[in-house]
This record gives sequence, structure tokens and C-alpha cells, in this order.
Amino acid sequence: MLVALIFALTVLSTISPSLARFVLPASLFVNSSNPALSGSGIYGKHSGEGVDYLYLGDKNFNSSQLLMRDGTQLYTNRTGNAKYFNVDDPYAKLTVAGPNSKKIGFVYYDDKHCLTVGGDISGFFACKNTSDPYNYSVHEFELMYYPTGGENDNCIPVNVYKIQ
Ligand SMILES: *[C@@H]1O[C@H](CO)[C@@H](O)[C@H](O)[C@H]1NC(C)=O
Ligand SMILES: *[C@@H]1O[C@H](CO)[C@@H](O)[C@H](O)[C@H]1NC(C)=O
Ligand SMILES: *[C@@H]1O[C@H](CO)[C@@H](O)[C@H](O)[C@H]1NC(C)=O
Ligand SMILES: *[C@@H]1O[C@H](CO)[C@@H](O)[C@H](O)[C@H]1NC(C)=O
Ligand SMILES: *[C@@H]1O[C@H](CO)[C@@H](O)[C@H](O)[C@H]1NC(C)=O
Repeated sequence: MLVALIFALTVLSTISPSLARFVLPASLFVNSSNPALSGSGIYGKHSGEGVDYLYLGDKNFNSSQLLMRDGTQLYTNRTGNAKYFNVDDPYAKLTVAGPNSKKIGFVYYDDKHCLTVGGDISGFFACKNTSDPYNYSVHEFELMYYPTGGENDNCIPVNVYKIQ
């Protein structure tokens, strides 16, 4: 079935240049050794012009915002103005500013498709009180990225994984 689908897509992509790129959906979740957080969906909330910071929702599948995966980047394009998943500073976000300076990928590890940044699954934290502009993080966990440390005492290590 999957092989047939991939074959069909390959044939289509040879026929139609517009389908030459594989664009697939990806819903993002976090796992953590903290059972209250593990399995939470990730969704964006408006946090400035063209920028949505990312927060942990509940464990319902619908709490994860659907992103599209195109090669080495993830984005949403519901408004016709693509916002890219970006971790170029500690705030993980969706932004019209563009894709990451580092490649996004996934590695299948223990039963999960874990998200990698520049090939590494680590660096992600769920944090409270991040000084986000609308103060959502006073009550909600925000997805942050500290690959070289500097996270505050409220931060809990997480990894990001996708379900397609
Ligand atoms: C998340 O799941 C992956 C794959 O099972 C595991 O390697 C990783 O340690 C987990 N992360 C945390 C923070 O528990
Ligand atoms: C959640 O997702 C399920 C399955 O896709 C759908 O049937 C249901 O209507 C959704 N619920 C909400 C509240 O969006
Ligand atoms: C986003 O949608 C707009 C309008 O449909 C389209 O012009 C643009 O190419 C899309 N961007 C991506 C990255 O798919
Ligand atoms: C975040 O800040 C609020 C308000 O200052 C405080 O009540 C709360 O305890 C802080 N949360 C954490 C996890 O430190
Ligand atoms: C968020 O909290 C800071 C510090 O308490 C405050 O200065 C700011 O006005 C708050 N922002 C909003 C949008 O409520």
C-alpha cells in the first residue's frame, strides 16, 4: 500500500513539476519524563506580527497544529503567507521571517519520529515564565530551544516528535 502510494507519487512528480517536492503533513507533540507533559500537542498562538510562539496543548490529537513538511523545513500556509517552524532563538515559533538557519529533520528512534535540528534531537524545553509578549507562559508551558544551556529553573526537558 505505502509502496504503491510512493510509486504513484513518484510517477506524478515526474509528470508534474509542481509535485516534484514531497510535501507531507506533520503534527507535533512533545515527550518528557514528566508524565503530565508527555504526549502534549504543540500549537501556535499569535505573539507579534507574523509570529506565533508555540505552546503545549492537551494530549488530544487536535491540540497539535498541523504543519506541512517540505524537505528540511516545516511550515503552515493556512493564510497564504507561509510561517516557518524556526528555532533560531530560544523561542520556538512559526514565523513569516522564514525557515531555520539549521536543517529540520526527523529520526526514527525507539518508536518515535523525533524532530532534529541540525541532526540533534536535544535542546528543547517546556518552560513557564519566559517573558513572552502576551504572558501566556505564566499559565501555559511554552516550547523553548536552548541547545547550549541557559534555560531557567522552570524548564523541563522535552523532545519533539511527529505523528503524521
Ligand atoms: C522522548 O522519546 C525518545 C524516543 O523514545 C527518547 O529517546 C527520549 O529520551 C525521550 N525524551 C525525553 C525528554 O524523555
Ligand atoms: C478532533 O479530531 C477528530 C479526528 O480528526 C475529529 O473527528 C473531531 O471533530 C475533532 N474535534 C475537534 C473539537 O476539533
Ligand atoms: C503559500 O500560499 C501562497 C498562496 O496560495 C503561495 O503563493 C505560496 O507559494 C505558498 N507557500 C508555500 C511555502 O507553500
Ligand atoms: C510564574 O510567574 C508567576 C507570576 O509571577 C508565579 O505565580 C508562578 O509561580 C511562576 N511559575 C513558575 C513555574 O515559577
Ligand atoms: C506581561 O507581563 C509584563 C510583566 O509583568 C507586563 O509588563 C506586560 O504588560 C504584560 N503584557 C501583557 C500583554 O499583558
